[in-house]
Amino acid sequence: MDAIECLKTRRCIRSYEDKPVPREIIEDIVDCGRLAASAINIQPWVFVAITDAGVRKKLSTITNHGAFIADAPVCVAVLCLADTYYLEDGCAATQNILLAARAHGLGACWVAGDKKDYAPAIREMLGAPADYKLVSLISIGHPSQTPSPAKKPLSEVLRWERF
Ligand SMILES: Cc1cc2nc3c(=O)[nH]c(=O)nc-3n(C[C@H](O)[C@H](O)[C@H](O)COP(=O)(O)O)c2cc1C
Repeated sequence: MDAIECLKTRRCIRSYEDKPVPREIIEDIVDCGRLAASAINIQPWVFVAITDAGVRKKLSTITNHGAFIADAPVCVAVLCLADTYYLEDGCAATQNILLAARAHGLGACWVAGDKKDYAPAIREMLGAPADYKLVSLISIGHPSQTPSPAKKPLSEVLRWERF
């Protein structure tokens, strides 16, 4: 699949087959997160790949819209050192991970971290230092659904030269 097709066909997947994702694929997906753009190339991130079913179950109950984390074979937590642009940087890495999962034929979903009341509890649960922020959790697995949420047409969102 070429990059444009990958970008245009990525959708959040919240239902997965009961099938593990090989470790080298997880590593490659996280590697794509590692290579994301970041302000002054500070690369504030640490990625925690969680495959343990008990931990994923806990994450699924702590989050308010992440129940499916329990069913995904892997969940990647994006944690960033809380510098000026930690959120933009962490979001860039998160999007790279979503796209890398798609490129590997997998499904993934972004689950909110930053600004959520549960973020500090998850940070602590994963053993991250207090100066790190949970930017996102990303569930990843073999997709068992093909959602197609409505998208605004290009004609509505693209303006030329002025707003
Ligand atoms: C910052 C952010 C937080 C999100 N948090 C959640 C979440 O907690 N649970 C969830 O199911 N989806 C979450 N999503 C996914 C969105 O619901 C999804 O991207 C949106 O509905 C558009 O669907 P698509 O990604 O399939 O195009 C989040 C997305 C973003 C960008």
